[in-house]
Amino acid sequence: MADKITTMYSEEEVNKRIKELGEQISKDFAGKKLTMICILKGAAAFACELAKRIDIPVEMEYMRCSSYGNETESSGVVKIALDLDEPIREKNILVVEDIIDTGRTMSYLLEILRQRGPAELKLCSLLDKPDRRVADVDIDYTGFVIPDKFVIGYGLDYAQKYRNLPYIGVVEPGE
Ligand code: IMP
Ligand code: MG
Repeated sequence: MADKITTMYSEEEVNKRIKELGEQISKDFAGKKLTMICILKGAAAFACELAKRIDIPVEMEYMRCSSYGNETESSGVVKIALDLDEPIREKNILVVEDIIDTGRTMSYLLEILRQRGPAELKLCSLLDKPDRRVADVDIDYTGFVIPDKFVIGYGLDYAQKYRNLPYIGVVEPGE
């Protein structure tokens, strides 16, 4: 049986929200230079769309983390699989993530980045799933707060599938 996908946020709704986030971020960082750190792979689509909606100078950097754990829950033991190639000392950093779930990955990552001495360190996440939080994470910019459902699309995957969907959906795996 094929996976069943139902729309949670349409392409129009997501794009509208990203435009609002971009405007807010542009205002908050006005007069400054911003370095976005896109967390691969999940945040790639979101980070690109967000960057296009920000009208101050932006540099884009990429990191990839892998979190040891089972398929549905991260362990908090995070390995940096791809690190930044530039120092971030004294820079204004905006970390861009797809979703904060248990918060384990991001609380660990933010601590590592904080130790590198950025001028500012802010977090923007397309989605926030607060029901499953076990590690505290301050999210400065949130796209949507969602219930405890497994979502896909707009960069988010289920077993590496569906990242290319232009909307956010809920997936119920088929047999
Ligand atoms: P956590 O906050 O450390 O539990 O892990 C967050 C990571 O788990 C995200 O960056 C996603 O890669 C993945 N994740 C959590 N919930 C979902 C979901 O609903 N769909 C797709 N990936 C998810
Ligand atoms: Mg991720």
